[in-house]
Amino acid sequence: MKMSRVVAALFCVSLFLSGMLAQEKSAISANLALTPPMGWNSWNKFACNVSEDMIKGMADAMVKSGMKDAGYVYLNIDDCWQVSRDAGANIVADPQRFPHGMKAVGDYIHSLGLKFGVYSDAGSKTCAGRPGGLGHEYHDAVQYAAWGVDYLKYDWCNTTSQDAKASYANIRAALDASGRPIVLSICEWGTAKPWLWGKEVGGNLWRSTGDIQDRWGGQEKWPDGSCCSNGVLAIIDQQVGLQSYAGPGHWNDPDMLEVGNGGMSDVEYRSHFSLWALLAAPLIAGNDLRNMRAEIHDILTNKEVIAVDQDSLGREGERVAKNGDLEIWAKQLKDGSRAVVLLNRGAAEQQITANWEDLGYPGGVSASVRDLWQHKDLGKFTGKFSATVASHGVVMVNVKP
Ligand code: GLA
Repeated sequence: MKMSRVVAALFCVSLFLSGMLAQEKSAISANLALTPPMGWNSWNKFACNVSEDMIKGMADAMVKSGMKDAGYVYLNIDDCWQVSRDAGANIVADPQRFPHGMKAVGDYIHSLGLKFGVYSDAGSKTCAGRPGGLGHEYHDAVQYAAWGVDYLKYDWCNTTSQDAKASYANIRAALDASGRPIVLSICEWGTAKPWLWGKEVGGNLWRSTGDIQDRWGGQEKWPDGSCCSNGVLAIIDQQVGLQSYAGPGHWNDPDMLEVGNGGMSDVEYRSHFSLWALLAAPLIAGNDLRNMRAEIHDILTNKEVIAVDQDSLGREGERVAKNGDLEIWAKQLKDGSRAVVLLNRGAAEQQITANWEDLGYPGGVSASVRDLWQHKDLGKFTGKFSATVASHGVVMVNVKP
């Protein structure tokens, strides 16, 4: 055989092998988060005040409160667990706050049947100014895998001129090379439209907006004039049109839950939770699970609403009708039924009607309606369903022809 043929044959073999390897790698991320991830994250309530004791207490509470039974599994430590890099460039956890190191925390979380998440950043520093992952992606991924990390939230601060798609592809490749299946949560705030490329780079979820605030309203400028603070209404408005990008293994992320953090009424928290479930959003609680009022517990663990979020068809719901402050949101479910949220954004109680045509059903069809908050079958309806909805409230039903 001529030398050039040998080279060509070797080239083909190596292409075949690297193709197989790529397939195997993409299979690692493709099988993660087939329904939207559910868990808890430290940021919304505790910000930088994280520690081994608090995290272990929260893991205990996740089990004891029934959150684990309701489907919450990831226990995620957000920013500020890390303080520096050592001489070997290993990322170093805060020795005061995590005296036994991150593997010990992960082991404890795993011993309860839960999964372990950490946070880093695609740039040189995290948003709180801690060491970021830039230039250390493969090194950090090996470290995370050794600690037993199951979920990485990767932020976008201090990234200067970095390309978002390339940066997230790089950390996904590093995570896959570690050999451990790790959910990748892209936290890029929607800046470079991650719904257009997040799935391709192996992201399992991507933030579609700036940070959520624990308030009901729309988008407002910050007091210093910069943009923008997002209440629940601001966030849902920014989901309109994104629904076709979500599906099993790759979800739009309208940010973590504020349910129970004190800035909204229980009616508003129920709406917040209902809408997130309708959007097939990741359900990452952000309140103090060690210390929850019964009303908050009942919102976060409503199994009928969670089932809407976790429906295996994996469709994100969408706004199907709007008349001023009155809106209808609907989500197709695997059994052909629809989850429907009747939302009243206004200041007074209102009657809202969902027409079957808005849900994609012919008007003449008779359908059973079940209230997912009252846990009650309401009977059969033809053509439409109407309900009185409290100010800032929802009525959430299942409509099944
Ligand atoms: C950004 C993220 C938040 C949180 C903080 C931590 O603002 O969007 O969710 O992780 O950083 O510093």
